[in-house]
Amino acid sequence: MPRPALPVAVLVSGYGSNLQALLDARAAGRLPVDFRLVASDRPEAQGLARARRAGVRAEAVAPGASADRAAWNEALGALLADSGAELVVLAGFMRVLAPELVRAWEGRMLNIHPSLLPRHRGLHTHRRALEAGDRMHGTSIHFVTEELDGGPVVLQARLPVLPGDDPEGLARRVQAREHDVYPRVVRWAAEGWLQWRAGRPWLYDRPLHRPVVV
Ligand code: GRF
Repeated sequence: MPRPALPVAVLVSGYGSNLQALLDARAAGRLPVDFRLVASDRPEAQGLARARRAGVRAEAVAPGASADRAAWNEALGALLADSGAELVVLAGFMRVLAPELVRAWEGRMLNIHPSLLPRHRGLHTHRRALEAGDRMHGTSIHFVTEELDGGPVVLQARLPVLPGDDPEGLARRVQAREHDVYPRVVRWAAEGWLQWRAGRPWLYDRPLHRPVVV
């Protein structure tokens, strides 16, 4: 019997091009997931409109609508639980989640970060890679843990920094790679090849000691 589609929730804060790549992969029959929810901390996020266009439930959970940070995390946690998702995919989600929420989704929450982790955690990664004189740059898909941008990396897409690169051009090249690799890793999870066992990722029935590099 074919495996049922994996129920997935996606969190976005902005433009949502990675979300779009996931939606497109699903529409093309290349991603066996069931998008239960797209949620955003920003009601105006274009990602929410992309979800609605694709017929996916889209919800804003604005921090301003909650009494404090703890209440906002609880509201978001309740929405995720209620969605029936078994995997949460962060795609350009710009807020730090409370440790309790991250723990509740241990091994079931992925993020994409635009650098070759552990280099350049945090913001402005493209500018920082250029300033550091890095010869290689790229993007990392990792499991989310309480350590910001610090969870085990599943896959990295690497690309050379070219003479004359500026942060914007570099970001565009990195994002083009992201749109290729994020659906690939989510598909591994949906097909059961990527698992979380005893606090670490496993890929194809082996513990993943270092990221897949493409
Ligand atoms: C991506 O580059 C991702 O790595 C980072 O934020 C950006 C989101 O872009 N976390 P988009 O909203 O998916 O277009």
